[in-house]
Amino acid sequence: MAGIFDVPAGLIMRVLPDEIEVLVASRGEDNPYEAEEKAKLNTGLYCETVMATRALLHVPHALEDPHWAHNPDVALNMVSYLGVPLMWPDNEVFGAICVLDNKKRDYQDKYVELLWEIKKSIERDFVVIEQQRQLVANNNELRGALERLTALQDELLRSEKLAALGAVVAGISHELNTPIGNSLLAASTLQCHAADFAADMGRGLTRSRMQEFVGTVEQGAAILMRSLEHAAKLLGTFKQLVEDQSAADRRRFDLGDTVRKVLVELGHAIQDSGHRVHCAIEPGIEMESYPQQLALVVTHLVSNAVRHAFLPGTGGTVRISAQPDGLGQVALTVSDDGVGIPQANLGRVFDPFFTTRLGHGGSGLGLHIVYKLVTATLHGSVEVSSEPGQGACFTVVLPLSAPAAMQKPETGTRIQRT
Ligand SMILES: Nc1ncnc2c1ncn2[C@@H]1O[C@H](COP(=O)(O)OP(=O)(O)OP(=O)(O)O)[C@@H](O)[C@H]1O
Ligand SMILES: [Mg+2]
Repeated sequence: MAGIFDVPAGLIMRVLPDEIEVLVASRGEDNPYEAEEKAKLNTGLYCETVMATRALLHVPHALEDPHWAHNPDVALNMVSYLGVPLMWPDNEVFGAICVLDNKKRDYQDKYVELLWEIKKSIERDFVVIEQQRQLVANNNELRGALERLTALQDELLRSEKLAALGAVVAGISHELNTPIGNSLLAASTLQCHAADFAADMGRGLTRSRMQEFVGTVEQGAAILMRSLEHAAKLLGTFKQLVEDQSAADRRRFDLGDTVRKVLVELGHAIQDSGHRVHCAIEPGIEMESYPQQLALVVTHLVSNAVRHAFLPGTGGTVRISAQPDGLGQVALTVSDDGVGIPQANLGRVFDPFFTTRLGHGGSGLGLHIVYKLVTATLHGSVEVSSEPGQGACFTVVLPLSAPAAMQKPETGTRIQRT
């Protein structure tokens, strides 16, 4: 620019809060200004006027103009000036662009036009700079929002877990209430009978009185046994629910063998039910996972089918099969040809304490335990499908090689329910 205008000094000036800075200076021997040089404002500089009026200023010769004769640039022998303001896209003043000379200059219009063109091209760059700044700001804002969201999600997860724990504790207390209440009643009844019997002993006992007492004790003891067994069974179930599976035994095993072993263990229960359980898993599906936990899953699914799927007096069939997908996963299905699960219950069967057998030995924890074991320990997913009257089908998709407990994430795979 300085070359075209044939001047010693071409400058881009930037205004700071209370100073003005030479941002860019043309490199010529006669240029008395240097980049990064700063000057105080309110000293009567040419550029100040340009910035204040936001208009072009042309001073052909300062010494011929009483208004400009004593401005600070005259001391540097810069007696002629042509400058225009530089504006940010939001119309804030950035500074000025100008040419200064040490002799009188009457610039022709085309020079003035050229200066305006240079000004406009710089201002177009400002638009790009501003857009970039906006992008960075937006980006930071987005990043901040994402961080806040993640924090919120963690917090939600924590409170959700606490709420779930609260519900489990409430459910456990409720479930244990019945057997423990019955036990207490039986024990206190026995106590009363024993006290009566002791009083009678002083008066002499008849044979029938003794028989009556033995009968009462037997009855009471039987109630106590039943109730306490029920409580113990419940506690066993609760233990499965809360047991820390991180210490679980991970090893290599054959899927079919493990499932068949479970069926042998369930032998009595299956036989008593009168239903058929058919395992069609081919040998040779090798897994590196947690066989005990997998066995528990199969136990719950098969005993559920036997207990819930069939109407009394009807015989049914439960089928177990497994299909490896060739990509490191296997789909294990336990299906029955029983009554099925009503559509309204399908989304709830995995919830803790959901049971249709309340008061008939169901605590509604079986499938919740299945869900927890499958997702958290076995790193798989479980879903259920059912058409009314067509039986139910539980599908458990498992990795053939489950991650070792150390690498286990805090939560399991999300459940999918159909
Ligand atoms: N194969 C099935 N056919 C029909 N209904 C089923 C089947 N499996 C589960 N259900 C339904 O799902 C409910 C929940 O099952 P879950 O195993 O969680 O509890 P439960 O068997 O009732 O009690 P628990 O297992 O704690 O003794 C059952 O009460 C039953 O209504
Ligand atoms: Mg069950």
